[in-house]
Amino acid sequence: MTDNTIDLIKASATHSSVLEAIHGDGFPAPWSAESFSGLLEQPNVHGWIAVSPEPCGFILSRTVADEAEILTMAVAGPHRCMGLGRRLLDNAIHHMKQTGAKTCHLEVAADNHTAHSLYAGAGFTETGRRRGYYRRSDVAVDALVMSKTVCETR
Ligand SMILES: CC(C)(COP(=O)(O)OP(=O)(O)OC[C@H]1O[C@@H](n2cnc3c(N)ncnc32)[C@H](O)[C@@H]1OP(=O)(O)O)[C@@H](O)C(=O)NCCC(=O)NCCS
Repeated sequence: MTDNTIDLIKASATHSSVLEAIHGDGFPAPWSAESFSGLLEQPNVHGWIAVSPEPCGFILSRTVADEAEILTMAVAGPHRCMGLGRRLLDNAIHHMKQTGAKTCHLEVAADNHTAHSLYAGAGFTETGRRRGYYRRSDVAVDALVMSKTVCETR
């Protein structure tokens, strides 16, 4: 069930350390605060943070012309499985439409069944595969490319 006491706020470069911490909770090779800062300083990169009131999840997207991309997203462990990931994703898609996006793409590790299920439930379908895209120690994992039409009318 979605927790409506959690607000979504716009992310800026000042939130970089917070994003680094949440990302580190969700990925084996977390992105640095400097990486987040560099992304959020780009005018076509948009981020949303869930606050409860402490930050507990975020999503980052980039729009170039009419193509949008989910760059990354994560929900902190104790806040998972309560609808927050889906809420962040729906919110990002809503704002992509407003910035003129027609389609949205993302990449997800082929073994990340939770994220795949989240994206499939939101209407993303597989449109490609990058073989051995992710390296984990000595294991290579494919990336699935998933896409969704976000605006039919443009
Ligand atoms: C993927 C992630 C963002 C999902 O966040 P979340 O807040 O737990 O997701 P939600 O509660 O909104 O669930 C949305 C959907 O995700 C799927 N899902 C969530 N948790 C799941 C689980 N433990 N097992 C299987 N599917 C799951 C379901 O399809 C669910 O829809 P449903 O509730 O209608 O069945 C979160 O697990 C996470 O941060 N994972 C680590 C980082 C990551 O993998 N990011 C995505 C990289 S591409």
